[in-house]
Amino acid sequence: MGAHEGRVVIVTGAASGIGRATAERVEAEGGSVVAVDLDADQLAWTSAHPRIELLAGDITEEPVNDAAVALAVEKFGGVDGAVFNAGIPTSGDLLTLPLEKFDRVMEVNVRAVLLGIRAVVPAMRQRGTGGAIAITASTSGMAADPNMWPYNTSKAAVINLMRGAALDLGPLGIRVNAVAPGPTESGMTTRLLENNEAYEGLRRRTALQRWGTSEEVAAVLSFLVSPDSSIVTGALVPADSGISANTGQFLPNEKP
Ligand SMILES: NC(=O)c1ccc[n+]([C@@H]2O[C@H](COP(=O)([O-])OP(=O)(O)OC[C@H]3O[C@@H](n4cnc5c(N)ncnc54)[C@H](O)[C@@H]3O)[C@@H](O)[C@H]2O)c1
Repeated sequence: MGAHEGRVVIVTGAASGIGRATAERVEAEGGSVVAVDLDADQLAWTSAHPRIELLAGDITEEPVNDAAVALAVEKFGGVDGAVFNAGIPTSGDLLTLPLEKFDRVMEVNVRAVLLGIRAVVPAMRQRGTGGAIAITASTSGMAADPNMWPYNTSKAAVINLMRGAALDLGPLGIRVNAVAPGPTESGMTTRLLENNEAYEGLRRRTALQRWGTSEEVAAVLSFLVSPDSSIVTGALVPADSGISANTGQFLPNEKP
């Protein structure tokens, strides 16, 4: 029996990369999924999956979060888990980047996660089986990267949102955790995958001397919203080839 047998999980940012891999993983483990992303065309892959329903919409809008919950209840009978994974990168000059860009990355990477939590908790309480939320944070929320302060700020904020939510929802039996991916092959990193120098530079900084795949990160997210992690809450789990284990002062050894 799969870890998600009979369970229903909402996954945001499910058109590509880590979100799509998570939706597929949950379904493969017996669950049903509401897959949310901006564009219905990009979610067309779900049509081959009978237990995955798509919802096109912008998660920064409150009604979209409510619609995801309503769809999960209507099609599958409730909500047991939510993976708030949608995110955008933003970088730029600290002194001149237009404030709208900073506001947008905070809106997508932080505020929308709060909207998602507020939308799913009543449904999870109604279901009466507890509930589990996992957030895709980043190693870029554990420390900073040159020029990437907007993204760093948003991911650090969502890590502490996760901790606060874990404390406040714990008494209701609802768990909240986050995953911190390192360099991961996905839609977001396509540009880096095409630039050998950037790809290699990141690879060399990892302990495992390799990038992660979206499927490897999805396995951790799936675990965190499954009953297998029933005693885990308030945790940030790096899924990062060991990049966050390094102080950054020295490069790890190369493969022998
Ligand atoms: N790829 C990496 O190396 C890496 C590393 C650390 C963290 N992350 C995080 O992983 C998460 C998933 O990203 P990915 O790497 O799979 O990239 P991706 O670009 O393949 O997927 C992100 C998805 O989020 C969707 N999205 C963005 N804004 C949205 C909105 N407002 N409403 C609905 N959907 C929206 C996009 O359309 C896209 O399909 C993100 O939160 C990202 O910050 C990625």
